[in-house]
Amino acid sequence: MYHNIFDSHAHYDDEQFNTDRDELLSSFKEKGISGVVCCGVNIETSCFAVNLSHKYDFVYSAVGFHPLDNGEYRDGDLEKIKELAQDEKCVAIGEIGLDYHYEKESRDRQLMLLEKQIILAKELDLPVIFHDRESHEDTLNILKKYKPKGVVHCFSGSVEMAKEIVKWGMYIGLGGAVTFKNAVKPCEVAKFVPSDRLLIETDAPYMTPVPFRGKRCDSLHIPYTAEKIAELRGVTAQEILNLTDKNARNLFGIK
Ligand code: NI
Repeated sequence: MYHNIFDSHAHYDDEQFNTDRDELLSSFKEKGISGVVCCGVNIETSCFAVNLSHKYDFVYSAVGFHPLDNGEYRDGDLEKIKELAQDEKCVAIGEIGLDYHYEKESRDRQLMLLEKQIILAKELDLPVIFHDRESHEDTLNILKKYKPKGVVHCFSGSVEMAKEIVKWGMYIGLGGAVTFKNAVKPCEVAKFVPSDRLLIETDAPYMTPVPFRGKRCDSLHIPYTAEKIAELRGVTAQEILNLTDKNARNLFGIK
């Protein structure tokens, strides 16, 4: 059985967990899970993440506005995020970033709210958890400008882009996508990422790895992603779990 399974990105507020959330999370520790970062996407889910982290010692929170939830942002919400971020188990500002795939809000509005949140993270000396979907160019520009600590989660860019990001001290988060049949870029990136810059994640309930695609994803699926990354790097899955657990603790300041 695997141990040191650290899921650096999950959304346990999701209604798909409403029927069995507590049963599921209560089973995690005996199944080898060492940590979970529960990410908010707006005020409500950020509060949820903070509350969940008080219920389970291995759960940590990240708070922020996701680019697809920017429409809800109201004056004063940044202050609320700041307040939540000062919780002792809040380890990052996130999930923040850019989403030009759905582009629910204008790029200008996405960039405006992103910059505010990066500046807040720097002020609080917290890392960012960054979402980049079809917005690689603006992501690179903004990360280059601010050079925050943090991770680009569910990384979908090229090896060249990963090289830039790693150079600025950031981490690369890889999830179920590396197991997908058509995954070329994520697999190239999985081979390249330096051992001290790799994080592993589920993005639960989304991004379910093979062989469970189409089903709900949870942190217990991490080993399937670890096995694929291990195969690509010629090491054991437990070695990948050990190093990604260590990296997550380093980035998020968890002992
Ligand atoms: Ni996410």
